[in-house]
Amino acid sequence: MTPTSPDAVPARRPLVSGNWKMHHDHIEALHTVRDLGLRLKPEDIAQVDVSIHPPFTDLRTVQTLVEGEAIPVALGAQHCNDHDRGAYTGEVSPQMLARLGVRYVLVGHSERRQHFAMSDDLVAATLRAVLRHEMVPILCVGETEEERAAAHTEARLSSQLEAALRGLAPSQAAGMVVAYEPVWAIGTGKAATSFDAEDACLFIRETVGTLAGREAAQSVRIQYGGSVNPENAADLMAEPDVDGLLVGGASLEAAGFLEIVRASRPVAPRGRS
Ligand code: PGA
Repeated sequence: MTPTSPDAVPARRPLVSGNWKMHHDHIEALHTVRDLGLRLKPEDIAQVDVSIHPPFTDLRTVQTLVEGEAIPVALGAQHCNDHDRGAYTGEVSPQMLARLGVRYVLVGHSERRQHFAMSDDLVAATLRAVLRHEMVPILCVGETEEERAAAHTEARLSSQLEAALRGLAPSQAAGMVVAYEPVWAIGTGKAATSFDAEDACLFIRETVGTLAGREAAQSVRIQYGGSVNPENAADLMAEPDVDGLLVGGASLEAAGFLEIVRASRPVAPRGRS
């Protein structure tokens, strides 16, 4: 397909997201984002979107900084409750995040599923809550080491996607982000090969196609996450169905994260698979 054919679809713009997890208090966040802002050049973000997902207690500080100093990164959150308000001690609502200018929210990160018993049903409800407030969900899916060894990767991915996407309007699915995060690759230093990442991301795209239609499949952005670093980022991003990266440990420090952002700049038009 050529960009001028009647079937042409707009290119997918890469999205590089830094998931800080439970690292950096608001003072450290201020230093890190300011450092990033000083280093970022217009050409770094001309063709790449960048989001930062700090802990909740940092969000207001980071929001004030990026708005005040016009730092071109989007504000992200790591999780939220599926209700807008109520007696949910310790939780943060999607409405509160939206009021703060949060644009992207991670939904169903494997650490939430594993340590906080987040079920597929709750992932689906949270996804809808994020959409209701016009933020962009980054739905995290991925298989465990055991599932991979048993050749159950595709079964796991399709059941997670089905549970989360069933009943969504095609336009809602088209505008969201899916992060393929194999659990065995997270924080282990053992990233998936670009070949395996492409395989899984293509499978995710096809599954989105089955659930929400071809247009949604072509538009949805699919990230890879799990031990991404400045050395492996370009190879992963060279794959046609890898539209971005979800970066944990390597996003905590501005210089290294920026190298990953730079390695994610497209070398050829994307989004034609
Ligand atoms: P990692 O984490 O880059 O430290 O492996 C990725 C993630 O959990 O999102």
